Amino acid sequence: MSLELRRPDDWHVHLRDGAMLWAVLPATARTFARAIVMPNLRPPVASVDAALAYRSRILEALPEGIRFEPLMTAYLTDDLDPDELAKGFTQDVFRAAKLYPANATTNSAAGVSDLSKISSVLSCMESIDMPLLIHGEVTDPDVDVFDREALFIERHLKPLRQRHPRLRIVLEHITTEESAIYIRDAYQSGDERIAATITPHHLHLNRNAMFVGGLRSDFYCLPVVKRECHRRALVKAATSGLPCFFLGTDSAPHPRSGKESACGCAGIFNALHALESYAAIFEQEGALEYLEGFASEHGPRFYGLPLNTDTITLARRDQRVPSRLVPPASICCGDDALPDGELPLLFHAGETLAWTVEVNS
Ligand code: DOR
Ligand code: ZN
Repeated sequence: MSLELRRPDDWHVHLRDGAMLWAVLPATARTFARAIVMPNLRPPVASVDAALAYRSRILEALPEGIRFEPLMTAYLTDDLDPDELAKGFTQDVFRAAKLYPANATTNSAAGVSDLSKISSVLSCMESIDMPLLIHGEVTDPDVDVFDREALFIERHLKPLRQRHPRLRIVLEHITTEESAIYIRDAYQSGDERIAATITPHHLHLNRNAMFVGGLRSDFYCLPVVKRECHRRALVKAATSGLPCFFLGTDSAPHPRSGKESACGCAGIFNALHALESYAAIFEQEGALEYLEGFASEHGPRFYGLPLNTDTITLARRDQRVPSRLVPPASICCGDDALPDGELPLLFHAGETLAWTVEVNS
């Protein structure tokens, strides 16, 4: 058995830079035609020139013969000039801007310290219909880490939407029942300007996973995975067929020493088997008919971009996932090669997945 799908896009990915970019880009570009590329480099991608330069580095690292379009995003800081943002958007360099609350996650120290600081930027984005992509967690250290997303909706997202009712918003990598219901209800009450991405790992894991047989940094990401009832709510949302939910892997590779250290980094590298991973969930739910909408149609419609016209095939054929990424033989990454031991661990390592992507040329 096999499924032929319109080629999907990834609406949230970390491609990194330098040697890591060269190592991980083929995994994304093989399956996905386009990807919304996160700007949390060091220094962050916060100008049109920086985004153009980063886009060139991505295209340079692209294996020959693969068609892939990186869609760049701007990293919002307290003092980013609205004119710079608007210039990037009208020139099709920036497709969206990313809001990291300062210190919420990896490389977010330069993020926004207070939403009131960027009100003119948000008004500008609202007027030009530029999507705002939100890492939705409060950063208040007194708030329990498992409650940070739900509280963000109450404290920040609801007031933000009241202040900017026409702003197009994606709540990224949602992890809670509260978020799934909030987005669904907004959509069902007629607001098509808010949507959410859902990752493969938040569909597969609950918070027990981080503690099975010891402390498992390979399952640590932000926002952190939650209780089983939240995972179930995300599965229901993703497989609902509703256009307000779409694919965003949040694939976030770290060198192995960064994950397996006394203070392990947040992020799960899932790009290589992402579609197979989603397919497993849709199949379990008896919802394979909705996979194409989630993976290939809802995202471009939300962003106002054309649907891809080429296809990929998902064959129902077992594959065993190796533990670590094997880089392509042609890898070439200048001076700062990534030692083999530093290649990122793969999500689903050691498991057998029931689907295998075949790329149609
Ligand atoms: O787990 C995560 N990793 N969450 C984020 O928000 C950032 C990402 C990263 O850049 O590593
Ligand atoms: Zn991310």
